[in-house]
Amino acid sequence: MILGIETSCDETAAAVVTADGEIRANVVSSQADLHARFGGVVPEVASRRHLELVVPVVRQALEEAGATLADVERIAVTRGPGLIGALLVGVSAAKALAWARRVPLVPVDHLHGHVASLMLEPGPLEPPFLCLLASGGHTMLLDVRAPGDMEVLGTTLDDAAGEAFDKGARLLGLGYPGGAAIDRLAREGDPGAFAFPVARTAGLDFSFSGVKTALLYAVRDLGEEEAERRKADLAASYQRAIVSALVRRTREAAERTGAERIAVVGGVAANSELRASLPEATAAPLPLCTDNAAMIASAARFSEAVPYPDYLALDAYA
Ligand code: KG4
Ligand code: ZN
Repeated sequence: MILGIETSCDETAAAVVTADGEIRANVVSSQADLHARFGGVVPEVASRRHLELVVPVVRQALEEAGATLADVERIAVTRGPGLIGALLVGVSAAKALAWARRVPLVPVDHLHGHVASLMLEPGPLEPPFLCLLASGGHTMLLDVRAPGDMEVLGTTLDDAAGEAFDKGARLLGLGYPGGAAIDRLAREGDPGAFAFPVARTAGLDFSFSGVKTALLYAVRDLGEEEAERRKADLAASYQRAIVSALVRRTREAAERTGAERIAVVGGVAANSELRASLPEATAAPLPLCTDNAAMIASAARFSEAVPYPDYLALDAYA
């Protein structure tokens, strides 16, 4: 059994996954409520909360899996990228647990983790495939050749897609994090009501800063009352612009690389319009789109473990 730990942003997560990729437990404690009043994640607040939650969350994961630490053969942990203070809590906890049990530790790259969310039972997706990774921190097109072996074909030049959703939600007064809130509200609106532009970048890159500014101007031009009245139309049009950009670039990349299969992962992969607009793609299961530790344990199945006690020198990266 592999115990996975993830603390890169504002989710404290632990999971138990078997070497075959079966999820025995997947516990996620979100700090979203804690950060909502600040309109975004406050790094130092996140670190302190991770410190309080990491042991209870690991305990709960083991309990749900019907396991104890004695059953754990490897410990997987997100080493980066993410908030450095938040990452250090997970890395330190993982080191301590691995050292206490004299088991190996597997440091995992968070982005590899998102891709590995596709490789769990039931029905794992086998590489090669083209992968759109869209989250709060990243937006990338990846040519995945093997688990852990991928090339970046395109990336965002400014904001990540999830960040664009969050900033848009903030402009519309929908709170933080806003992706899911825009998704819900957009269902009641007209996506053709406002023509928000999507930047035409060279190659396979993305840009979302323009659409965010366009929404800001639209809200300002409408005035507070009218913007409030047309909130659903604004949300639907804004979402349409972001999703169209993601879909267009993904299809272009598939054409260029001749990829036979397309996959979508990361928090934005939970978006209902994106999922519906790319019916040919395999989207990560909903509970595995946003940050979780099952995907980290999954990635650890395909990476080299660091033997006891060498990992004590391991560092996180921001
Ligand atoms: O993968 P994730 O949990 O964290 C990062 O690694 O960044 O992604 C979080 C992002 C947030 O920006 C959130 O607003 C967005 O995913 N998100 C969504 C939806 N659910 C979460 N965006 C659009 N539609 C959704 N349904
Ligand atoms: Zn993530």
